[in-house]
Amino acid sequence: MPHPGSLLGIEALTDQAIASILSSARQLELAGAHPALAGRRIALLFYEPSTRTRVSFEMAAKALGATTYLVLAAASSIEKGESLLDTALTLCAMGAEAIVIRHPSSGAPHFLSRYVDVPIINAGDGMHEHPSQALLDAFTILEIRQRIAGLKIAVIGDIYHSRVARSDIHLLSRLGAEIVLCGPPELAPDVAVTLRPGLRLTRNADEAVRDADIIMLLRVQKERFGGLPLFVERYIAEFQMTPQRLAKARPDALVMHPGPMVRGMELTDAVADGARSLVLRQVRNGVAVRMAILRRAFGDVN
Ligand code: NCD
Repeated sequence: MPHPGSLLGIEALTDQAIASILSSARQLELAGAHPALAGRRIALLFYEPSTRTRVSFEMAAKALGATTYLVLAAASSIEKGESLLDTALTLCAMGAEAIVIRHPSSGAPHFLSRYVDVPIINAGDGMHEHPSQALLDAFTILEIRQRIAGLKIAVIGDIYHSRVARSDIHLLSRLGAEIVLCGPPELAPDVAVTLRPGLRLTRNADEAVRDADIIMLLRVQKERFGGLPLFVERYIAEFQMTPQRLAKARPDALVMHPGPMVRGMELTDAVADGARSLVLRQVRNGVAVRMAILRRAFGDVN
């Protein structure tokens, strides 16, 4: 049994846990720093590159008074061949009371949670889930629109390789959004619609954005292709978010992107920096949402 404070994915999270994390994040955002986890020790175990997820978990832990220990695969005994489990047990033997982990293998946090007695927080596992990102995306939409039920959300880009897409699709459709997936067959295969009931897929980005309230863009993850041919020019012509394409959405439609953005690929500068872009607000909200996730890990809220 995983530790009850673990956060492994959205799919396994109860409705009550989702509501509780979102409302606790709201309170923490209003209250700011809060020493609820003073003296607690949190290990951040990162086997893949990360900027915002790693820094915001670190800022969240520190805002709650906890101490963090950062272990990067490239600068640790992992390079010498130590197994994931041995590394985790070593950190726990030294007093880590929770582990935040990012790993290129789908299921790595789930595996650890079976053998390690501390809460495991999934900060992105392979092509599987990225639950803290989905929670901060839902939090950001709720902050601006006050609801998710009934909103039309177009998810455009590399859905196949994206753990953010998978977690967002689970969470936002559970909260009642109408979701339209869009991308070329290499990045948005037909089978993507089987992830949840009610998903639609279109290969036409203009159709996807029509009447959309939220346009969620995903990075084209070249590092996960493994040689799959991708026609960059075709992608840019057919799927890139430009001001002209954005003009086909509702006048109050908002643009989201989990980062890192590749300007000139999935969106243009004008869209990335435009008044409708929520990108930096998503990053800012990530700290409060991760504070709520860490408090829950230590049983501080129900
Ligand atoms: C994403 C990730 O690593 O899954 N970034 C993030 O954590 N905000 C998305 C990506 O790499 O494109």
